[in-house]
Order: sequence, then structure tokens, then C-alpha cells
Amino acid sequence: MLLADLPEGPFARLAALLNGTEPGKPPITLAVGDPSGVVPDFVKEALAREAASFGNYPMISGTREWREAAAAWVAARFDLPSERIDPEKHVLPLNGTRDGLFSVLFPIVPRSKQGARPIVAMPNPFYQVYAAAALASGAEPLYVPALAANGFLPDYAGLPPEILARVAAVYVCSPSNPEGAVADRAYWDGLFELADRHDFIVLADECYADIWFDAPPACALTARLAQSGGFSRLLSFHSLSKRSGLPGLRSGMVAGCADLIARFRAFRNVAGPQVPTPILAASAACWRDEAHVEAGRLAYQEKMAAAQAILGNRMKRPGGGFFLWLDVGNGADFALRAWREQGVRLLPGAYMGRESLPGKTQSNPGFSYVRVALVSDLSTIMTALERLKEILG
Ligand SMILES: Cc1ncc(COP(=O)(O)O)c(C=O)c1O
Repeated sequence: MLLADLPEGPFARLAALLNGTEPGKPPITLAVGDPSGVVPDFVKEALAREAASFGNYPMISGTREWREAAAAWVAARFDLPSERIDPEKHVLPLNGTRDGLFSVLFPIVPRSKQGARPIVAMPNPFYQVYAAAALASGAEPLYVPALAANGFLPDYAGLPPEILARVAAVYVCSPSNPEGAVADRAYWDGLFELADRHDFIVLADECYADIWFDAPPACALTARLAQSGGFSRLLSFHSLSKRSGLPGLRSGMVAGCADLIARFRAFRNVAGPQVPTPILAASAACWRDEAHVEAGRLAYQEKMAAAQAILGNRMKRPGGGFFLWLDVGNGADFALRAWREQGVRLLPGAYMGRESLPGKTQSNPGFSYVRVALVSDLSTIMTALERLKEILG
């Protein structure tokens, strides 16, 4: 498959599905996971304070202030000794996490592995940039089903040895989009053992790490340090779009193995977009402050509790993130019906996945699901879920 053959994005496909169908009630969208957070005053102040720096090129590795704030957050959030996270070696700013998840493969995917085209494995369904990155880097994307039977996490250990030998990197999303699955310590430990045995890199997309319900999820950096005494073969990605509810800021970071960070930094110095200095100042303030994150988390917890009260056993509460992953039999049919009868816009799960057997739509692990984003205000969400309840039966 070529990059040019990538399917259209999920929202373009949704627009095509609903095109020509009138909403049965005043429309509400629960399709897009746009956090729509309140912009804290300290963000506006930092942007204004640093505005004069638009006259200069920013540095690819960010400002010292940003590096120190980011490294301090990584150490505190993942319970790591602060001396193990060196601001100069272990963190790098990104223009939104998607930028990093895409470009990271260019400097790390080899031309061949075991004499064959390298493989980049990813969960299926998945955040669509992983496949684009794999193809753009010359690797073969491998879509590994994330099924209910294995806790909605890809079973990479179950891949045949001759495939594992060709794997150069794997993406793992935890808490996952779309299912909200959380990788526990045993999952991470097993994955790192596999990575060491087959010499591949783990790209942990942990953008939703700060949105949880009972307890903070186990995270990749903590597990890797405990297991091996370092961060080799691991890069972990984080996002202020989710943590702070500020997707318009376009700010994220990558943290992990010093050698991989150095290679990524060198590549970005030639080909990467720098993060503007005012954005770095605002981002540093976001990484330092937990109060706005706790307020956001409480709001998501309230929305999830409301969803449980309305939908009962029609839903399962996810481990983290802000999506419901509802099994409705046929996700595309249900999304069309939800729009036609109830005016509620939902994303068919299949649009985030790929068919395991070409031409067999039901072999797409997202086929029977819809993804429901709980990001609007509480009363809008409650109205939409009451309407969905009518057709969920
Ligand atoms: C799983 C996952 N990873 C990464 C991103 C990208 O986040 P950012 O806004 O930081 O680019 C998203 C955004 O929706 C996401 O769902």
C-alpha cells in the first residue's frame, strides 16, 4: 500500500455517510473528541509576555524553562527519581503530539530489518496518524486487532516470530483512543521483554494519561525504568490537547530514551517544525500547574458518571480518556440511525480501523462499535445520551 492509497480520514467518511440525511432532532455532535477546555489566564499571560519573541527563530529543543517544566512533570507524574529525567536529554517539545507521532519514524526506521521491509505494528482500530507515519517512513504497517477478548489492547506477543523479527517499532495507545483501554504493568513488562528480544522500539502514545476515573493509569516510563533500570527502546508521547484541554495550542512532548531523543532532535533540527517561544512559555506553565488538570479531570468524571446513570449496562466505563466505545451490532448503520432519528452525530468504529480480511467489512475490529465523545458540556451530553438510550433498546 502507498501513502496515496490511505483511506480518507474518519470525519470525511462520516460526512459522506450522513450526507443527504436530515437530522431527526436539533443536531448534537458526539463525534469529534475536541476537548474545548477553558483557556487558563496563565496561558494568556505567558503568550502575551513572550509575544516579542515572534521576531526570532525558536530552538527545536525548546527553551530551558520549557525543558525544566516538562522534565519535572514527567518525573512527578510517573513517579521517577528526578535525577533520572535530565531536561537536556530526555524531553523534546512537539507541535502537538500528532506531529511527533508522525515524524518519529523517519529517524528510527531502518531501510531493512532481517533482510526484509521493516514492519511498524499498531493497534486496530487506531489513531490514524500511525498508519500514515508507517507508510511515509517506508515501513509496512501491520494492523494488530485490539479486541474485547484481549482487553482492547494489541497482542503483539502473539505475532509469529518471523513477523516479530521484522518489526522495527510498535505503537501502543494507553489509555487508548477509541476504546479507553489501559495497559497495566504486566502488559508493559511483557511488551518491553518482547522489544528487547526482537530489537524494536516502543512508541507509547499516552496522550490521555491524565484523564482517568479511579486511579492514574500505569505508564510506560515507570514500567520500563523498574524493569530495566533505564528507558532504552522507549519513547512516550504526551499532549496538552488532552491534559490541559487546549488542542488549539498545538503543544505536546516526547520523553524517554536519551539516545532516541538525540536522534529525533537531530532529525527535527533539519526537518522538524520548531514550537514558537510564546507557545513554549504557555506550555511550560501548563506542565507546571495541576489545578487546571484536576478541574478538567473532575469534569470528565462527572460526565462519565452521568453517562453511566443514563446508559446503565448499555455501556462499560473505560479505564481512561473521554470516549465511550459502544457495541451496537453495526456501527455505521447505528450512526446513520442516531443521526436520522435522534440528530446525534457519532463516529462508526470501523472508520478508525482496517479490515483484517480485505473486502470483508465485518473483519474490521471496529465494525460493531460506535465511538461517543464526552467532551461537550454536561447538559448537552445528557440530552444526547437520553436520545441514544431510546434507540439502544
Ligand atoms: C490517541 C491520540 N494520540 C494523539 C493525538 C494528537 O494530539 P495532539 O492534539 O497533541 O496532536 C490524539 C488526538 O486526538 C489522540 O487521540
